[in-house]
Amino acid sequence: MSTERKIYIGAAWPYANGSLHLGHVSALIGSDVLARYFRLRGDSVLFVSGSDCHGTPISLEAEKQGISPSEIAEKYHKEFKETLINGLGFSYDLYTDTLTENHVRVVQEIFLDLYNKGFIYEKETELPFCPDCKKFLPDRYIEGECPKCHFTSARGDQCDGCGNLIDTRELINPKCKICGATPEWKTTKHFYLKISAFQEKILEWTESSEGWRKNAKNFTINFVKQGLHDRAITRDIDWGIPIPLKGYEDKRIYVWFEAVCGYLSASKEFSQKIGNDDLWKEFWENPNSIHYYVHGKDNIPFHTVVWPSILLAKGGLKLPDRIVSSEYLTLANGQFSKSRKWAIWLPEFLKNFDSETLRYYLLLNGAEKSDSDFSWKQYQEKINTELIGHFGNFVHRVLLFIYKNYPEGINFPAILTKEDTDFLNFAKNCFAKVGTAIEKGKFAEALESVFSLAEYGNRYLNSNAPWTVIKNDRQKAEATLAIAGHVIKCLAVLSAPFLPRTAKSICETINSSIERWEYPTETIIVVSKPAILYSKVEDSQIEKEQELLQQIKK
Ligand code: MF3
Ligand code: ZN
Repeated sequence: MSTERKIYIGAAWPYANGSLHLGHVSALIGSDVLARYFRLRGDSVLFVSGSDCHGTPISLEAEKQGISPSEIAEKYHKEFKETLINGLGFSYDLYTDTLTENHVRVVQEIFLDLYNKGFIYEKETELPFCPDCKKFLPDRYIEGECPKCHFTSARGDQCDGCGNLIDTRELINPKCKICGATPEWKTTKHFYLKISAFQEKILEWTESSEGWRKNAKNFTINFVKQGLHDRAITRDIDWGIPIPLKGYEDKRIYVWFEAVCGYLSASKEFSQKIGNDDLWKEFWENPNSIHYYVHGKDNIPFHTVVWPSILLAKGGLKLPDRIVSSEYLTLANGQFSKSRKWAIWLPEFLKNFDSETLRYYLLLNGAEKSDSDFSWKQYQEKINTELIGHFGNFVHRVLLFIYKNYPEGINFPAILTKEDTDFLNFAKNCFAKVGTAIEKGKFAEALESVFSLAEYGNRYLNSNAPWTVIKNDRQKAEATLAIAGHVIKCLAVLSAPFLPRTAKSICETINSSIERWEYPTETIIVVSKPAILYSKVEDSQIEKEQELLQQIKK
C-alpha cells in the first residue's frame, strides 16, 4: 500500500511594488522547508506561489515613480524570481504572477460562477471620492483612523494596527493619500461577496481546526464572532482584472479577491505546464490531501475568511488545513517600513552574505511564535557560534580527519559500545522528532533538534578523541570516526529541508546522495576533500551594515 500523501503548499504572493526584505523571507521561509521535507518523505507535493501584481499597492507606486503599473510589476516580479529562487533556493513547483492569461481566466470564471450562484451580488453604496484628485479612493488611496483599534493610519480595506478588515465607510477622519484632502461621498455600484452566508461554517471549521498557528486561530475566532459582513470585491480603478459582465468596463476586481484565487490558478497553470491538465484535481478535489498556507499575520483574515468563503461558495474544493502565519520581524526594534526605507533588502543581503546563513537565522529567530527582532550583532553571533562553531565545525573536523587518515574510506566497527549505540539511536530518533515538528509548522523547534544532534556529535568526539587514539589504536579511532561519519550522513538528510546547499555539499564530500527522509543504512563512508561550508561573518561586515542603518535613522 502506498503511504504517499498529497501535500499542497501555498506561500503568500508578495506585492510586486518594491524589493523584498527580510520580513518577507521570515514569513515565507517555512513554506520551502515544508516542500523539501514532504518531497523527501516521498509525498507528492504541489508548492506554488507568485507575484501579486494588481491593485492599489502597485498603481500607487507606479504613480509615485511616474511609470506604468505593468512596468513596476514586471520589474519586481523578475527580481522576486531571482532572489527567492536563485538567491534563497525556494523550491517552488511554480512561481508565477497574477498577470497571466490563465490567472485572469480562472478568476473571471470563479467570479461568474459565484455571481450565478448568488454569492456575488450588486449593490449601490457611498464611497469616498477625492474632490481634488477627481477619483474614488479605494484601499491604499485612503487613510484614516481604525474604527476598531484607533490606529491612525488604517487603510481603506485593512488596518495595519490590529489586522482587522475594514469597511472604508467606517474609517474615522479619512484623508486622500495623494493630496491629503477630505473626501466627499459619492454613490457608486459594486459587487459584494456574500461572506455573511458562511458565518457559522467558518466559525465551526476554525474552532475544530488542528495545526493552525495560534495567532491565526485566535484572530479568526475573534473576528468571526464579531459577525462576518459581506465585502465589496470590485473597485473604481483601472489597474486590475476586468469584471466579466457587460457595463462594468470602468471597474476592476478587488486585488485580494483575485490574489487568493491564485492558489488555484497557479495549480492549474502548473498542471498544464507539465502536460497533465487534471493534476490539480488530485490536490483540490481530494478530501485526503493536506493544504498548508504560509504567510505573515497581516494576511490571516484573507486566508481564513475571504478565501474559504470563495471556496465554500464555489463548492467541491479543499479548504485550508494548516494555517502557518508568522508574527512580525522587526529591525533594531522598529517596524520594517518601505516608505521610511527602514529595512534590510533581500537583494542587498544576498550580495554581501550567504543565503544559507539567512535561512538558518530566520528559521530560528524569525518570529514564529511572537514578534522577533533582527539585529546584525545577533545575526553575526548566531552564525559564527552556532552554525559555524557547532554544526559546521563538527562536520568539517570529522570529514577532514577521515579524508586525511583514511583515504580508502571507513566502515562501521563490528562491535559497538554503549556510547556508540546511544549516539546512533539519538540520530535515528531525530528523523521522527524533526519530521513531526516540521509537519506542525514548528520550524525553529525542528531545526534545534537537528542542531542538538551536531552538538551531541561534538561531545561524542571530544569524549572519544580519535585524533589522540589514532596514535596507538588505529582501529578504535576508525570506529569512532565511522560512527561520527554516519551521523554526519544523518545530518545531511536532516538538514536538507532547512539548509539545502549545506546538505548537498556534505553529500558531495561523502560521495552519497539524499534520497529519503530516513535513517541511512549504508555504513561505508568514502570522503573526498571537504569544502568549507560557511565563511565567518566578520566584524567589518557587520559594522558596515550598522552604519548604513544609522544613516537611515538620521
Ligand atoms: N500581496 C499580499 C501581501 O503582500 C499577499 C497576497 S497572498 C495571496 O500582503 F496569495 F493571497 F495573494
Ligand atoms: Zn485597527
